[in-house]
Amino acid sequence: MSKMEVKTSLLDNMIGVGDMVLLEPLAEESFLENLKKRFDHNEIYTYIGSVVISVNPYRSLPIYSPEKVEEYRNRNFYELSPHIFSLADEAYRSLRDQDKDQCILITGESGAGKTEASKLVMSYVAAVCGKGAEVNQVKEQLLQSNPVLEAFGNAKTVRNDNSSRFGKYMDIEFDFKGDPLGGVISNYLLEKSRVVKQPRGERNFHVFYQLLSGAPDDMLKKLNLERDFSKYNYLGLDSATVNGVDDAANFRTVRNAMQIVGFMDDETQSVLEVVSAVLKLGNIEFKPESRVNGLDESRVKDKNELKEICELIGIEQTVLERAFSFRTVEAKQEKVSTTLNVAQAYYARDALAKNLYSRLFSWLVNRINESIKAQTKTRKKVMGVLDIYGFEIFEDNSFEQFIINYCNEKLQQIFIELTLREEQEEYIREGIEWTHIDYFNNAIICDLIENNTNGILAMLDEECLRPGTVSDETFLEKLNQICAGHEHFESRMSKNSKFLNDHTLPHNCFRIQHYAGKVLYRVEGFVDKNNDLLYRDLSQAMWKASHNLVKSLFPDGNPTKINLKRPPTAGFQFKASVATLMKNLLTKNPNYIRCIKPNDKKAAHIFTDSLVCHQVRYLGLMENVRVRRAGYAFRQTYEPCLERYKMLCKQTWPHWRGPAREGVEVLLKDLQIPREEYSYGRSKIFIRNPRTLFHLEDQRKQRLQDLAALIQKIYRGWKCRTRFLLMKRSQITVAAWYRRYAQQKKYQRIKSSAIVVQSYIRGWKSRKILRELKYQKRCTEAVTTIAAYWHGTQVRRDYRKFFRANAGKKIYEFTIQRIMQKYFLELKNKMPSMSPIDKTWPARPYLFLEATHTELRRIFHLWRCKKYRDLFTEQKKAIYDEKLEASEMFKDKKALYPSSVGQPFQGDYLEISKNPKYQKLSTLVEEKIILADIVNKINRANGKATPRIFLLTKNSFLLADQKSGQIKSSVPLSDLTSASMSAQTDGFFAVRVKEGTPAAAKGDFLLSSDRLIEIVTKLYRTCLSSTKEKINIEISDEFLVQFKQDKVCVKFVQGSPKNGSVAACKRKNNRLLEVAVPSP
Ligand SMILES: Nc1ncnc2c1ncn2[C@@H]1O[C@H](COP(=O)(O)OP(=O)(O)OP(=O)(O)O)[C@@H](O)[C@H]1O
Ligand SMILES: [Mg+2]
Repeated sequence: MSKMEVKTSLLDNMIGVGDMVLLEPLAEESFLENLKKRFDHNEIYTYIGSVVISVNPYRSLPIYSPEKVEEYRNRNFYELSPHIFSLADEAYRSLRDQDKDQCILITGESGAGKTEASKLVMSYVAAVCGKGAEVNQVKEQLLQSNPVLEAFGNAKTVRNDNSSRFGKYMDIEFDFKGDPLGGVISNYLLEKSRVVKQPRGERNFHVFYQLLSGAPDDMLKKLNLERDFSKYNYLGLDSATVNGVDDAANFRTVRNAMQIVGFMDDETQSVLEVVSAVLKLGNIEFKPESRVNGLDESRVKDKNELKEICELIGIEQTVLERAFSFRTVEAKQEKVSTTLNVAQAYYARDALAKNLYSRLFSWLVNRINESIKAQTKTRKKVMGVLDIYGFEIFEDNSFEQFIINYCNEKLQQIFIELTLREEQEEYIREGIEWTHIDYFNNAIICDLIENNTNGILAMLDEECLRPGTVSDETFLEKLNQICAGHEHFESRMSKNSKFLNDHTLPHNCFRIQHYAGKVLYRVEGFVDKNNDLLYRDLSQAMWKASHNLVKSLFPDGNPTKINLKRPPTAGFQFKASVATLMKNLLTKNPNYIRCIKPNDKKAAHIFTDSLVCHQVRYLGLMENVRVRRAGYAFRQTYEPCLERYKMLCKQTWPHWRGPAREGVEVLLKDLQIPREEYSYGRSKIFIRNPRTLFHLEDQRKQRLQDLAALIQKIYRGWKCRTRFLLMKRSQITVAAWYRRYAQQKKYQRIKSSAIVVQSYIRGWKSRKILRELKYQKRCTEAVTTIAAYWHGTQVRRDYRKFFRANAGKKIYEFTIQRIMQKYFLELKNKMPSMSPIDKTWPARPYLFLEATHTELRRIFHLWRCKKYRDLFTEQKKAIYDEKLEASEMFKDKKALYPSSVGQPFQGDYLEISKNPKYQKLSTLVEEKIILADIVNKINRANGKATPRIFLLTKNSFLLADQKSGQIKSSVPLSDLTSASMSAQTDGFFAVRVKEGTPAAAKGDFLLSSDRLIEIVTKLYRTCLSSTKEKINIEISDEFLVQFKQDKVCVKFVQGSPKNGSVAACKRKNNRLLEVAVPSP
């Protein structure tokens, strides 16, 4: 079974054995030994299967920390060492996960640790269940109900310093998630006799001590209380304080708890007022007072106390006083009032105190229930925690002990029912092989007490209701009659009793052999306590109270609602509530905590074997182990079992079609669980070892995780695939669009390229065609031209004979004509200006027109000159004639000429006629003077110049003195032959005279003048006109001049004369006169 090993186990580091089932050898001694060993090692919890044995350590152990809570949380029962948390966890989880209502049954005798255990369970559940503001408040209220109820319902007893004096069953309600919703508390029979009287060494209920020590002064004053316990009769004095208990601090805790649970401040105040009233009632004392008619009567001794109580609960003092003094009995519409004697008055007082207190306690429970009640009406799961007073055996056992032990008897019964009998019966029922195990069944004791016809309680009720004198003795008598034969009933009074000589059994007692031991009950008070009567006067008095709480506690005091029927007896009520409780518990899945008290001294580290042994015995723990060892740890009907584990096997998962049992068989076989580990019952599968179950559970958990992972995987796969498909679709769409777009683009590109290529090709083709066409055209043209020429040639050849002789000439003429036409027209447009000196002339167009062109130019020039001339006057004409004459004579012959061209020929420069200086001269010259000017006459001897007036008239020329005007020479023009001069720029000239004439005597004249050209020209012209003969004009650089007889040569040389620019004449010798002319 290596596969089945769990990681941690209660077997790890075990002290003794953690589970008594594993105990070897199984015997009482070894059982005790094991418990003791574990107890010594602080291991106070031990299992018997799923039952937890708890041994009270009487000291606080560090095993309830939050870390421990975490450790045990959600762990399997056997995984860790035994602990009460493990049981609580198991119960809570099976409530939450399997929807099973749970009950935690905590049993054990007084002081064994039941109340502590119940609180541990509750606190564990509170720690592990849901969280949140609302949930936390519910939890807090549930937990805080404990200190309140303990203050009012617990007291110090000889067995337990915090003994529960009431039974408590609390249902904690959860929602489907396992979050607490609220709770309901049921209380069972408070031991109210403790209010008025406590056995030695015991205390009254805690609340009295807490109030007196913890309440602030002003509160005490308000309640009319004093701090001193000894002031109060109801408080037992011998053990007023408890070791290690701080009543004052607890009072604050309680008040705080009340606040948390939801008590209003005035409610708390009212409760404390009632508590004070109860306490003070004990201080009311009575004194006897004789009356005339001899009947005893009582009076309240100290009315002050009474007054204070009345003030506290708002009752008129006289009303209460009267209720303590009289008793009214109503019978058949008749009211009979009897006085109460002192004893009766005390009885009434105590009865009132007890009633007041117990009713207050019930009210508290109801009030708490109101607060912790679940708010929702949804279906709830319930966990019941039963903490009832433990089995107790005192020296003096009364009605209360009887009731308490009866209750424990019933619990034992239910334990036996469920664990021992029921289990064994089930094996038989299911046909499982089983050897019966003997155990003590206490049903017989229960029957002795509760049997409806002859049970002790029934007889007590009968006795109480019976008319006539009834007393505890008559009740015992009756018991003796009826129960004498019962094997668990012992009494000395019955006839033939085998106990007649048993001195441990007094006469006024009976003894019952309970499952947990024999208990001797003193019958005294049984009837009274069972009747539980409060004089009507008292309840009516209470009802009249103005104190709301007190009034509400006594609804039976309302005179309008008088009920003549007797109220049910205490025993009857208790039996009924126990029956309901049992019924309730049977519907739930039980979880047992069996508390064991290790010693009687409330001391740590002490383990009294005999005491423990006794408890082990009466708790039936040995039998428990035996049954457990022989039996099976777990059973379940096939259907839910298959349903729970079917995922562990392929054949059964997900559906098994067929009977559930076969399914389970297949399942277990498949899982290879050893055959001895389980058995098949008729309707259930039995699993022997819890570990097998846990193994199954672990596998299931693992499988569930795998399945969850599978579901997750498939879901994720599906999700991813859907997403993938979506993406794929999207991708295809996108790709399609993109491709379309790309193709479009590509197509466009190709198209435009094609168009380009096409256009080039077409262009090329067209050009080719064009070229061809052009070529063709040229060919045709050429052909045409050739043909034309050819035809022309042909025609000309044919026609040559007809016009060859003159055609050419005609054509030539025509052409020439055309050319000439064009030439003239162009020339006409290009004509130069009319100025005779304009030398421009258009260029000739054709070479052959050269001559014409030059001629035309000449003609045009002549014509232009003529036109110019035509514009002249006679005078001007004469002048130009003269100039022309000069030109003809000197141009290009004499270097002086060009300078004369620009000078107009004035002729008369001296104005002789006008000048008075020459008046004489003018008179001598009658003729018109053609020229008058000053010239230089060159002396023939030395060549020096002398100025002379030169006058030319029509017939002669004259030389006169410049100053005097006296004529020196006069020569007729006809005597002149020639005039000589050089070709150079000088003004020297010689005038020659004919030989043989008068004038010749004097010789030739050598003159010089700047106006040589004008003088010579005029001389020439005048000579010509007057003589009709021309004079000779000689131009040479060497000429001969006739001076008187001899001839002198005048030679002109180039050089630079002394006087600069003027030519100078110098006589070189007789024959030579040299004129130096400056170089040009
Ligand atoms: N687990 C525990 N750890 C420490 N101390 C414990 C534990 N259980 C019980 N005690 C001590 O034992 C005392 C008595 O326990 P408890 O009040 O639970 O007994 P009980 O079984 O309820 O008795 P009764 O029947 O009288 O009410 C407690 O006050 C406490 O001091
Ligand atoms: Mg208790």
